[in-house]
Amino acid sequence: MNEDPCIVTSAPGKMIVLGEHSVVYGKPAIALAIDRRFYCKVRKSQDLTVNGYRATAGMHPHIRSVLHDNKAGNISVEATTDIPTSSGLGSSAALSASISLAVKKLFGRPVDERSIAEDAFNAEWFAQGRASPIDTSTCTHGKGIALNSPEGVGRHLWDVSKGGNKWAVKEIESPDMTFVVGYTGIHAPTGPIVEKVRKFKEHNRFAADIVDEIGLITLLGMNAIRRGDKEDLGNIMTDNHKLLSILGVSCKELNKLVNASLPHSYGAKLTGSGGGGSMIALTDKPDAVCEAIRLHGGVPMVVHTEPEGVRVERSAPGSGEFALE
Ligand code: MEV
Repeated sequence: MNEDPCIVTSAPGKMIVLGEHSVVYGKPAIALAIDRRFYCKVRKSQDLTVNGYRATAGMHPHIRSVLHDNKAGNISVEATTDIPTSSGLGSSAALSASISLAVKKLFGRPVDERSIAEDAFNAEWFAQGRASPIDTSTCTHGKGIALNSPEGVGRHLWDVSKGGNKWAVKEIESPDMTFVVGYTGIHAPTGPIVEKVRKFKEHNRFAADIVDEIGLITLLGMNAIRRGDKEDLGNIMTDNHKLLSILGVSCKELNKLVNASLPHSYGAKLTGSGGGGSMIALTDKPDAVCEAIRLHGGVPMVVHTEPEGVRVERSAPGSGEFALE
């Protein structure tokens, strides 16, 4: 039995309701934490190991980035999650936030939400290249998060700047609305898709216009959420999906799930980076949407907003046991 002190931390996944991709260029976005979590049991170790395997150079860049930022030694990590990986639902941001909290605790670094969010954002940037802090802020803080919302919308948490862009991170009241996620089953790593959009935007001025337009409709969506107007928000979500399709980040499987959900929804769109991964539908008929998603080859999940961000699950110095309730 391993007697070294260990700690168990977790962080929620997320879904982006509006504004993915354009948020990378400093435009607004809204995301909600979801009631699925990434759990990490972490202890100090000679080498970096993950789920029993020694990490070779270049493996696990998110974890390496967090260790580097905290000037920490190696760790062994046992990770488990019910968030499908590379699915657009924030598994890497949730991993980074939970590793950051664990490392800060184990190595005696000051623990505060803002610096965990900063570690997690640096890790995303290191692993995927250009990024925005929408995923990492949401997985760290939980609840609802708006970036660069207008004056008066949301409670200001902190500011982030990187790569020539600035984001004001705010907590928003989570809407009393039902969302169904449809997972295509296609793994779609974020980095290459963000890079594809960057090239498209650089070489095609209409792509830059689409990015601006997504920013504008996201602002309208923030107002719809504030008013609790599901019709309006749903229409804006569907418009957002059309714009993301023009940007080249949807795929036939995502379009199939979005189309299948629309007759039972206020609106539907891909969520996260696209290219596979997941879509979301805003609905009052979750069973009908789940059935439509299933019939069209997707995996449905009814998700709820998760109020709790990153947290210690159970600190078990010397116990060597890992219980996931
Ligand atoms: C990925 O979940 C969201 C993107 O906007 C990338 C990012 O914001 O880092 C595509």
